[in-house]
Amino acid sequence: MSMPLLTLVLGAGKGTRMKSALPKVMHGIGGRSMLGHVIAAAKAAGSTSMAVIVGPGMPEVAAEAEKQAPGAQVFVQENQRGTGDAVLAARAALQAHQGDVLVMFGDTPLLTVDTVKQLVAALGQGAHVAVLGFHAKDPAGYGRLLTEGGVLTAIREHNDASATERAITLCNSGVMAFRAPNLLSLLDEIKPNNAKGEYYLTDVVEIARKAGLKAVAVAGAEEEMLGVNSRVQLAVAEAVFQARARLHAMTEGATLIAPDTVWFAHDTKLGRDIVIEPNVYFGPGVTVADGARINANCHIEGASIGAGARIGPFARLRPGAVLGADVHVGNYVEVKNATLEDGAKANHLAYIGDGRVGKKANIGAGTIFCNYDGFNKHFTDVGAGAFVGSNSALVAPVKIGDGAFVGSGSVITRDVAPDALALERAEQKEHAGWAAKFRAVMAKRKSGRKHLVR
Ligand code: UD1
Ligand code: MG
Repeated sequence: MSMPLLTLVLGAGKGTRMKSALPKVMHGIGGRSMLGHVIAAAKAAGSTSMAVIVGPGMPEVAAEAEKQAPGAQVFVQENQRGTGDAVLAARAALQAHQGDVLVMFGDTPLLTVDTVKQLVAALGQGAHVAVLGFHAKDPAGYGRLLTEGGVLTAIREHNDASATERAITLCNSGVMAFRAPNLLSLLDEIKPNNAKGEYYLTDVVEIARKAGLKAVAVAGAEEEMLGVNSRVQLAVAEAVFQARARLHAMTEGATLIAPDTVWFAHDTKLGRDIVIEPNVYFGPGVTVADGARINANCHIEGASIGAGARIGPFARLRPGAVLGADVHVGNYVEVKNATLEDGAKANHLAYIGDGRVGKKANIGAGTIFCNYDGFNKHFTDVGAGAFVGSNSALVAPVKIGDGAFVGSGSVITRDVAPDALALERAEQKEHAGWAAKFRAVMAKRKSGRKHLVR
């Protein structure tokens, strides 16, 4: 039986150990904030509404919540008095909600959708409170899950635990799910009577049990439960994310020659039979169609790469780069906010910004789209089958007609008609025998001065 599911994401912690101007949950993994990862997992696990708890003066967290979950309610927890207090900051959302409640921490970005679903599923199997636990290699610092015959009796924070309790390795991940009609009244019973003097959400387990409700623990993999409190842990989480992304890419039919050197974003989309050479970085928003090859050392973000295209080595594709089928973008070519239609080529040393390159057009080495006049960006349009000779500057706004030629070294400031040749360079002069005479004169001068040279 599935019920409306309200997810509360706790993100009020300042994360002082991050030593950052940015709130902790705004730090990124795979090109998306940790908060974004948690929200995405909650949504995919069936969350029907969302509330994010932020600290005072964290407008960026509120904005990120709205971006990742449009319509999410944002509550400010004025003083960080513990996880129980944080949940109660969303009192209005809890009051208005009829159904299940899921609590997640904004700094736990590696939780998989399946694990969250398993936790919520426990509610359908008769539990009023379900806690996601894991067996910790080193349980120090975590709350311990106390169980009796498969039933969860209490959660004891490390600081408050006895020696016997500390020997327990089953720990609290922090993720909890509730199907309790009177959840708010249970939460209101939480008292700050512990070593830290905080309102512990974890106390709700004992409170629920005393009210005759059933609590259970659902165990998941430790790797997913990592809570990020420092930049070192952020890097550990990034490594786990990347390992998963590489595995996924290969499982879905991409060849990674050196997987450990390829960096994916949370939303990288790859087709089949793509080959990715070593040292390739994908920022957010990249799609690669079937059969494309990304050669070594490319930086790619916000780009769409067509089927059979060849990119790099050493290419940079920036946001808005849209490459059709069989496009070639070679070494030291930068493409930004520009479309290269099917079969277009820019094989070496070029800047293609704010423009269109028509089907099968050829952009010669050293071509620059001069898109910026210091104030505004302008558009360059190169027609199908056009040929732009090496070292040309196309000064936007400008249009090169279909099938036109631009002679190399030209600075093109006016539109070129289809099938025309545009040439903008001084006429070549030739002086017969000049070089031989020059050499003779210089050689004589140099030998005359030899005694002066050390
Ligand atoms: C918490 C759990 C512990 C569990 C561990 C897992 C409690 C009492 N303890 O401990 O059982 O093993 O997480 O990592 O819940 N937060 C707020 N407002 C507050 C306090 C915290 O929003 O007033 C947020 C933090 O931003 C963070 C999360 O809640 O995202 C957890 O808080 P934290 O102080 O890190 O709890 P732990 O001591 O790690
Ligand atoms: Mg913590």
